[in-house]
Amino acid sequence: MFSIGYCCLLALCGCTLAYIEIPEAYLTAIRQDRADEQAAGEYNYDEQGDDWTGTCQSGENQSPIDLIYEDSKIVAIPRLRFNYYDQALQTPLVITNNGHTANMVIPQTRGGQRPSINGSLLPGNFEVQSVHFHWGSRETKGSEHAINFQRYDVEMHIVHKNTIYDTMGEATMHPDGLAVLGVMFRAVDRQTSQHYGLNKIFNQLPRIVQYGSNATITGRLTVGQLLGNIVTGEFFTYNGSLTTPDCAEAVTWTVFPDVLDYPRRQIAKLWNLRDSRQKPLIDNYRSIQDTNNRDVYYRTIQ
Ligand SMILES: *[C@@H]1O[C@H](CO)[C@@H](O)[C@H](O)[C@H]1NC(C)=O
Ligand SMILES: *[C@@H]1O[C@H](CO)[C@@H](O)[C@H](O)[C@H]1NC(C)=O
Ligand SMILES: *[C@@H]1O[C@H](CO)[C@@H](O)[C@H](O)[C@H]1NC(C)=O
Ligand SMILES: [Zn+2]
Repeated sequence: MFSIGYCCLLALCGCTLAYIEIPEAYLTAIRQDRADEQAAGEYNYDEQGDDWTGTCQSGENQSPIDLIYEDSKIVAIPRLRFNYYDQALQTPLVITNNGHTANMVIPQTRGGQRPSINGSLLPGNFEVQSVHFHWGSRETKGSEHAINFQRYDVEMHIVHKNTIYDTMGEATMHPDGLAVLGVMFRAVDRQTSQHYGLNKIFNQLPRIVQYGSNATITGRLTVGQLLGNIVTGEFFTYNGSLTTPDCAEAVTWTVFPDVLDYPRRQIAKLWNLRDSRQKPLIDNYRSIQDTNNRDVYYRTIQ
């Protein structure tokens, strides 16, 4: 079946694959994301990041950290606002194995808007840029943050950029540059609820096993669908860093304690990916960093 966005060149040139046209603006965003990824240089998770240098080693506001309810400041925090999170994104969506994670650059909505977040303690309005995952292996848990000393099977990061900065590169140079949402997944054996949006992404993972490969997703997907049905009214928020080199201290983190139950057979698709050395891409999480007396806030609904 061919839908809008597909054009079959079979008759024209004898190609054996349907050709999917990708909007120029989205291609530019993907190219920029790859350039940013390359600028971060070669790194791996052989020592969970303990061998990374520069700010990763010298920084005092690093991520991830242990998020502990008893140690956090429970204060009145405005709710987090999700703008255009319920709007269908332009298609196709491109998901890539960049050797460190499965990464999806997020295009505009079909209405030409950029989904964004504001409110909470966020210092501005932050537009969604990309989504990626951190995971363990068949034997290990791979979330980056720990919540009350507990780590989970997968942590999804939805990365946003402050609208006052033009590029991700510029945003990483400012403490108010980025806002990342962290969502924990628990692998469950039973078949659970739809998780329609996540399934669309995870169903493509077998096609991006090799480093550098990409796959496309078509059909209706919203950023909001990635959150499943977790409670977004309660969260931890604190000032931290990127969890990959150069570990720029530019991130206002929001991590939800409500966990998304997701089938183990879907999560297992992450464990099959391979890195640039042809090794299994597993345990791609950074070790827990010192909190260094930073304030961690907790928003509660009551
Ligand atoms: C959040 O963004 C929306 C839409 O851009 C805007 O209407 C609203 O005033 C903003 N709220 C805050 C608290 O910044
Ligand atoms: C996806 O991968 C194919 C094959 O490696 C490549 O030709 C194509 O340019 C890639 N597409 C994007 C959007 O990067
Ligand atoms: C982050 O740091 C800024 C500047 O020090 C501060 O105003 C803000 O409240 C902090 N935000 C959080 C969530 O800790
Ligand atoms: Zn991440």
